[in-house]
Amino acid sequence: PAPRTVLLTGAAGGLGTLMRGLLPAYGYDLRLLDLRPVDGEPAALTVDLADRAALREAVRGVDAVLHLAGISLESTFDKILKANIEGVHHLYEAVREEGVPRVVFASSNHAVGFTPRPVGDDPLIPVGTPRRPDTFYGLSKSFGEDLAQFYWDKHGIETVSVRIGSCFLEPANVRMLSVWMSPGDGARLFHAALTAPHVKHSVVYGSSANTRLWWDLGPARALGYEPQDDSEQYAEKLIAEHGELDPANPDHAHLGGHFCTNPPLWPH
Ligand code: NAI
Repeated sequence: PAPRTVLLTGAAGGLGTLMRGLLPAYGYDLRLLDLRPVDGEPAALTVDLADRAALREAVRGVDAVLHLAGISLESTFDKILKANIEGVHHLYEAVREEGVPRVVFASSNHAVGFTPRPVGDDPLIPVGTPRRPDTFYGLSKSFGEDLAQFYWDKHGIETVSVRIGSCFLEPANVRMLSVWMSPGDGARLFHAALTAPHVKHSVVYGSSANTRLWWDLGPARALGYEPQDDSEQYAEKLIAEHGELDPANPDHAHLGGHFCTNPPLWPH
């Protein structure tokens, strides 16, 4: 049966806010969790991923977890270790202890951020490309993907790891013309990842069907994802503002963009 009750972690964040708006239309009953209170949602659970007892209670009885919580930019190794590395371990332990069958994990393109982006007729980047994290943040997503594989092999817990490009209302720069995922496509992809049968541990890229796409959406489509959007409508304006990508510029040469050279740091 299709999962109905889903724990959404990171519900106060940007993507969490978009998804708690869009996913109920697919019939989900969302249980919300975040470190911070969630605006307008007094029933949301205020829980730190460090709190294993509270996490165990939070996952009790759900059909699946959509795991978005964590630090979403570069930070110090110590902060990434706690929120993203220990945090994802605690989440999977709670899931294992409570017998939750499925997790959808918000991985990131930054797990493969140092992969050269395709130029000209180069083939699209496959999900099987060797991981090349571009930050401690990207390393934590690479760890999360390995952890998900391990919990499938060892404990039979299924995961779809979604290497999200950039999910915002609109693409904000020329790189995002390639990696953008519209919120509507994000909801379509998470819905597919929550409901597709027999996913074992699957890794997919998460973006819209962009004209300037860099990676292979085949594995996402194999889950039943049918993207409806393309960033191309924003191309003319963004290129007029910022210019075309220059392959000689290291910030433009890799999937991870400026995370490879000058990652934004979380405020201390
Ligand atoms: P965000 O930073 O807006 O939201 C993350 C949420 O996680 C925040 O509300 C924060 O309070 C919560 N959180 C952080 N540490 C926590 C902890 N220890 N315990 C409980 N909650 C904690 O990030 P955004 O953009 O919403 O991203 C969501 C997820 O998707 C993140 O895992 C991010 O790495 C991933 N992702 C997002 C992309 C995007 O385009 N928005 C691109 C690639 C990956």
